[in-house]
Amino acid sequence: MKVRKAVIPAAGLGTRFLPATKAMPKEMLPIVDKPTIQFIVEEAKKSGIEDILIVTGKNKRSIEDHFDANPELEQDLEKTGKKELLKLTESITNLGVNLYFTRQPHPAGLGDAILRARSFVGDEPFAVMLGDDLMTDKVPLTKQLINRYDKTHASTIAVMPVPHEEVSKYGVIEPADEIEPGLINVKSFVEKPAVDKAPSDYAIIGRYLLTPEIFEILAHQKPGRGGEIQLTDAIDTMNKTQRVFAHVFKGERHDVGNKEGYLETSIEYGLTHPETKDELRNYIIKLGRELEKNSKQN
Ligand code: G1P
Repeated sequence: MKVRKAVIPAAGLGTRFLPATKAMPKEMLPIVDKPTIQFIVEEAKKSGIEDILIVTGKNKRSIEDHFDANPELEQDLEKTGKKELLKLTESITNLGVNLYFTRQPHPAGLGDAILRARSFVGDEPFAVMLGDDLMTDKVPLTKQLINRYDKTHASTIAVMPVPHEEVSKYGVIEPADEIEPGLINVKSFVEKPAVDKAPSDYAIIGRYLLTPEIFEILAHQKPGRGGEIQLTDAIDTMNKTQRVFAHVFKGERHDVGNKEGYLETSIEYGLTHPETKDELRNYIIKLGRELEKNSKQN
């Protein structure tokens, strides 16, 4: 069956970015001039996804507004002859994918957020795309997972090696064997293991291709790490009754879910953005020289 649907969980409280996220969803924090969630929706579109469900929560209205038309703004841009900005604004409403929204009433974990998508997904394979991970590669990562699914018809989870001391921040796989380059048979999945107990350094990054059987498992899933319903635990259960593979991502991953990663991503994007790249580059070179000079003096 063709993969047509994606679920983007966006219900998190964004506590890592307080106070910015007190009244604004973290998914609306911009990388230069584009909200992070728009990057995710664009990746879905480029991967051939047709329908997207965004699972939101309280204080997330502006996400819906962002993808809706804004007639007052559009009229003003038209009147003042700002054609390029008008085109840009309208293009967000005409992305060519259908967006649906539902709310997770209580923050009960990623697994619980995904369970909200059960009737939207129905009996089809689907993608899960986490908003904190922005991925770049020639072929979008979600499309890479779909390509794997088209051959195996099995759930496939994107993974990447991370520095060993960081494994406790992620879901981690216990690999069995590599059945073809970049495709791993998995023995087990563990959510945020202690560094000395981690079965490998392969971390689950924010893209999943799942078969719909995951919902029945999630519906009965007991709270795991942090007292939350964990998607990783449900995937581990599913792996006992059907094959679940790990796909090794070789592209670039930007974690915009923490301050440092967010700043790095903003700088890198700023260095490719036509309006900022030249001045930003000059500024960084100048700043680099100053920092080097200071560090030699100290
Ligand atoms: C979630 C998942 C975790 C995964 C991570 C990737 O954790 O629970 O398994 O490795 O995303 O970013 P979170 O970062 O939301 O705590």
